[in-house]
Amino acid sequence: MIEPLALPVSDSDVRDLALLLLDAIDSGASLGFLDSTTLESAEAWWRDRISKADARAIFLVARDENGIAGTVQILPAGMPNQRHRADIAKLLIHRRARRQGLGSMPMLEIERRAQAAGFTLLTLDTKRGDGAESLYRRGGWTEVGVIPAYALDPDGTPCDTVVFYKALPRL
Ligand SMILES: CC(C)(COP(=O)(O)OP(=O)(O)OC[C@H]1O[C@@H](n2cnc3c(N)ncnc32)[C@H](O)[C@@H]1OP(=O)(O)O)[C@@H](O)C(=O)NCCC(=O)NCCS
Repeated sequence: MIEPLALPVSDSDVRDLALLLLDAIDSGASLGFLDSTTLESAEAWWRDRISKADARAIFLVARDENGIAGTVQILPAGMPNQRHRADIAKLLIHRRARRQGLGSMPMLEIERRAQAAGFTLLTLDTKRGDGAESLYRRGGWTEVGVIPAYALDPDGTPCDTVVFYKALPRL
């Protein structure tokens, strides 16, 4: 089931989200973190991200019998001339639940909610060559281009980033 993260966020949800982030880092995903990330710092990052989020931000979670198995978020653009735009960030599916269609479902749901909230342009970026790149292409996202050596993998290796956008019809 995919649902909005209940706020104020509970300690157990923060723990699950931190474990999900660590699992993704451990899988080699380029998410802004290095493999030295600890559970404590991952929890602190989630608390900070959620507490400082724009009022129009949306955090979705997918749960299974072991807790939060997936998540994705809408981060509205901050500037007054981009009220129609939001970034999609931190699409994470735990390795225990991958390749079952779970990654596509939160994306469909977050796009639906973004459109309902009045956003008409979504942007995101992802590591070139990762499974997420295929997922976004299959989901109808348009590639803007590739930025070489944009970020580092968790082990410190430089990796390229693909920038995508999706225009949403105004409801
Ligand atoms: C990317 C990620 C969210 C995909 O989640 P998922 O639940 O496995 O995705 P789905 O099962 O919905 O896959 C949908 C499609 O995406 C593509 N895809 C997903 N993972 C893939 C992989 N490892 N290799 C190639 N294609 C992949 C496939 O086209 C897949 O369809 P198929 O299974 O019918 O071939 C998951 O692997 C993940 O959390 N990765 C680490 C974090 C990350 O990189 N997030 C993206 C940040 S921008």
